[in-house]
Amino acid sequence: MPLARSLSVTSLSGLEEWDEEFDLEDAVLFEIAWEVANKVGGIYTVIQTKARLTAEEWGENYFLVGPYVESNVRTQVELIEPTNPALKSTIDKMNRSGCKVYFGRWLIEGSPYVILIDVGFTAWSLDRWKSELWENCAIGVPWFDREANDAVLFGFLTAWLLGEVRAQCEEPPHILAHFHEWLAGLGLVLCRQRQLPVATIFTTHATLLGRYLCAGNVDFYNNLAEFNVDKEAGDRQIYHRYCLERAAARCAHVFTTVSQITAIEAEHLLKRKPDIVTPNGLNVKKFSAMHEFQNLHAQSKNRIQEFIRGHFYGHLDFNLDKCLFLFIAGRYEFSNKGADIFLEALARLNYLLRVNHSDVTVIAFFIMPARTNNFNVETLKGQAVRKQLWDTAQTVKERFGKKLYESLLVGQLPDVSKMLDKEDFTIMKRAIFATQRQCQPPICTHNMLEDSSDPILNCIRRIGLFNSSADRVKIIFHPEFLSSTSPLLPMDYEEFVRGCHLGVFPSYYEPWGYTPAECTVMGIPSISTNLSGFGCFMEEHIADPSAYGIYILDRRYRGVDESCNQLTSFLFQFCKQSRRQRIIQRNRTERLSDLLDWRYLGRVRLQSQKLKAHIRWCGSSEPIYASGFRYPRPASVPPSPALSRHSSPHHSEAEDNDDEDERYDEDLEAEKDRMNIRQPVALPFKNKAYTVYGANGDGATTEK
Ligand code: UDP
Ligand code: G6P
Ligand code: GLC
Repeated sequence: MPLARSLSVTSLSGLEEWDEEFDLEDAVLFEIAWEVANKVGGIYTVIQTKARLTAEEWGENYFLVGPYVESNVRTQVELIEPTNPALKSTIDKMNRSGCKVYFGRWLIEGSPYVILIDVGFTAWSLDRWKSELWENCAIGVPWFDREANDAVLFGFLTAWLLGEVRAQCEEPPHILAHFHEWLAGLGLVLCRQRQLPVATIFTTHATLLGRYLCAGNVDFYNNLAEFNVDKEAGDRQIYHRYCLERAAARCAHVFTTVSQITAIEAEHLLKRKPDIVTPNGLNVKKFSAMHEFQNLHAQSKNRIQEFIRGHFYGHLDFNLDKCLFLFIAGRYEFSNKGADIFLEALARLNYLLRVNHSDVTVIAFFIMPARTNNFNVETLKGQAVRKQLWDTAQTVKERFGKKLYESLLVGQLPDVSKMLDKEDFTIMKRAIFATQRQCQPPICTHNMLEDSSDPILNCIRRIGLFNSSADRVKIIFHPEFLSSTSPLLPMDYEEFVRGCHLGVFPSYYEPWGYTPAECTVMGIPSISTNLSGFGCFMEEHIADPSAYGIYILDRRYRGVDESCNQLTSFLFQFCKQSRRQRIIQRNRTERLSDLLDWRYLGRVRLQSQKLKAHIRWCGSSEPIYASGFRYPRPASVPPSPALSRHSSPHHSEAEDNDDEDERYDEDLEAEKDRMNIRQPVALPFKNKAYTVYGANGDGATTEK
């Protein structure tokens, strides 16, 4: 029987020396995850965004542990000598014994210390460690599962590290080890199995089985309690991974997850109810000028428009000023992330915009990394053609300007008909000829390796959205994360999000979902679902989320087709908004950012003062999570901005483009005064349930 099932979950064994009176000042925190300085998805964001606060709180006693990936280290980590003598002798000793362990500072806010382990270097131990795992925990890992092999190596190496740190100290400190996700979970299991006096926390950001089951067309949420977990894991050939995950969840002193919906899932699939739900936060930056984020939107939008000019060269038969940029982004999980229903809804939206003769054009970006062979020629050519047109315009402008200047110098008004000569026209004609194009603007920016079986491309083929002139909805699939050094769209993800109008994340499986949260703090409205941790969190804490630009799609109680209709309706209503309504809505969205700030959602706290209380709570039957507070509906808005007409009378489209800023300022200032909503949001968090991880929470024990 696997160790996971034989250990008592409430057991605090190994922590006998954590007497009641100890002070956490003397403790050392190790936070262990595969995504430390290694971007894969949202776990990287969790760790990176809370690093500053955690480092402030733990100072020199905070260490992140992750895998050594050379390309990441070269760009993100400054390698240094270990500062702590015990750690130095630990790392030296491990390196003398055939490991490669590095120490450095991760160059992000808070510059936390990182310990990076080259798991490949210790691959020679894999077979031995796998046998040990089998003998002690009855978990057998097959040779062909590379990720699981890495998990085994990483697990044994982290457990070795933690054990060695203790051994190297004359007076060992209290060690707290926080492990994230199954890939890092084995280290925790080994700490418990070896009875190391280390307090352990396991946070799961998703369950393996949940992810697999949802991706496979299963009616997941209606059958949560019914699944035969061992069989389901076996059928999907992930039984060994599942055992590692379940063992970590079951062995941890404290088990947490990122949302209530995943807490229920974990209870059924991992057979342990999380002790605490710790919603994910962000490192929210406030600008000194209140509307700075609106200016940033305009700047970034200009850059996206520039890209569009190149991408659609020869087919720029739509008004860019009436163009709305929508996007979906994240790991490429076609149906889990809701790319399937987004595409379907876009097809329906295209129909609605066409039959209603709308002058709006929607450009939907899909930013999801897939296997590619770099950018395709047609896409790169588009940007080259745009650049050439720009250069031509500059050349002609200069020649024109010179003639104008010369004419003025001799005191004459220019003869406009002679300002451009034959050569100018030749240059311009040549440039225009270069914009002729035989094909439609490409859907995909890259050469896909699996073009014929790619789910997004196949769906586009089926619904027939090929960027043709008649289509009001255009699609651009960028199968790579964005980067400011890209020759195609040189923007980082944050800049790109700021320039868009709406993030669309209609996920079916989404334990938290950072992408809509990131939109919110940047003041960009988003669509999420009531099956995502973020969507449920917002629904719980905001009286009328859509008034704040947080559209929550119902994927829980409706069938796929109905959800798709609802999504289409959100999109269509969004397209009907005037610019002014969009500006007001962005202001409302941005006001919610405090709600998502780590300072209030302090998981940091989980690791500090209240740790002991949390550990004691392990046996508590109810998970502890945020509840209670609800953000009121904005006073000046009708129930939904989609339906809302303008809140001040005498409105016309022309006004939208003129003095919108002044008037929205007035509107919003009045509304702000009424709501007093920019006051520190800490206030509402002081309610009983929230103090568990509230900023000043001494509620942990009172809560209990
Ligand atoms: N992301 C990114 N670059 C991109 C697109 C996405 O860095 O071009 C990040 C985004 O900022 C977010 C993460 O990918 O933090 C996705 O996290 P999420 O929790 O939404 O989903 P996950 O991929 O973890 O399931
Ligand atoms: C921001 C800028 C405005 C600009 C507007 C465009 O609010 O401050 O100057 O007009 O964005 O909004 P839109 O939704 O049309 O991109
Ligand atoms: C996982 C989940 C995602 C969550 C992230 C951070 O990758 O899929 O929903 O936001 O972890 O917790």
